[in-house]
Amino acid sequence: MSPLLVTRTLPEDATDAALRADVLHGLTDHPKWLPPKWFYDARGSELFERITELPEYYPTRAEREILTVRSGEIAAASGARTLIELGSGSSEKTRHLLDALAPAVYVPVDVSESALTQAGQALVEERPGLEVHALIADFTAPLDLPATPGPRLLAFLGGTIGNLLPDERAKFLAAVRSLLAPGDGLLLGTDLVKDERVLVRAYADAAGVTAAFNKNVLAVVDRELGADFDPDAFDHVALWDPEREWIEMRLRSRIAQTVKVPALDLAVDFAAGEELRTEVSAKFRRAGVSEELSDAGLELTHWWTDAEERFALSLSMAR
Ligand code: SAH
Ligand code: TRP
Repeated sequence: MSPLLVTRTLPEDATDAALRADVLHGLTDHPKWLPPKWFYDARGSELFERITELPEYYPTRAEREILTVRSGEIAAASGARTLIELGSGSSEKTRHLLDALAPAVYVPVDVSESALTQAGQALVEERPGLEVHALIADFTAPLDLPATPGPRLLAFLGGTIGNLLPDERAKFLAAVRSLLAPGDGLLLGTDLVKDERVLVRAYADAAGVTAAFNKNVLAVVDRELGADFDPDAFDHVALWDPEREWIEMRLRSRIAQTVKVPALDLAVDFAAGEELRTEVSAKFRRAGVSEELSDAGLELTHWWTDAEERFALSLSMAR
């Protein structure tokens, strides 16, 4: 069994400082917000895995269908010897790519240490000869990737790019481009614009798993900063914004209440019905994806969708 290497690029207290800064900024803004990367503690990662199995949540199944059918083509087009994956989570769908590419090294990158180490351990056990170098890191910050053989394929799956706001997305793609050498590729998963009812159901499931996932960010703030958010005092809200073509997730205060955040010496008033924005999930069209990639110095060479055209995987090359 080859070794699993786990590297943490941020000291633990940097994570704590970033959480404090984000919570202070977000809870004192109008409207209030909290950034999505704090959803993914161990419980958040588990809840996300349950979301991927929900009947209403089609993106995972659609993307898996594309990977099942197209991994051979992806491998042939990229010829990659290193597979890097940002926001890799459980690396479950990635197995199709690993089968087809058979890279020398796999570099999964995630903020969730629990998801990363579980996935990494399972992979080295099931794939003798594969070197797994896992990186606990924030993909919105500058990344220090290990030196590995080229060409490289950088995968960013799950439609997670849609969780960045447009200006963050442009910065992110430019940073990705700077990590690649000419001839390296980006494999990007994007959920597509579709019927509003299908979209809203995917983010407001009948069993309430997405609601629990959304509210988990409050539990993180309670645990890490000693706050007294009561998750039951908030309702999960998922709305389609037709102008910006994104789903917006919010938490709506059921009552007028004051929440204390001792670590920040902060008391936050919520009016009854006031909403806290937690995450957007943008949906895409081919022309927009191609343009955003091109603006970042990446040229779209392949576009694959599932049979129902719900989700797309694109391959683009560094120019
Ligand atoms: N790629 C998987 C998981 C998608 S969920 C799939 O397609 O099913 C999004 C993943 O990104 C989670 O594992 C989460 O922990 C991670 N993530 C979210 N924000 C991040 C950030 N800023 N830096 C690194 N990882 C992040
Ligand atoms: N990347 C996933 C998506 O946008 C994340 C996600 C799924 C999510 N369901 C959610 C984020 C519910 C917040 C709330 O589809």
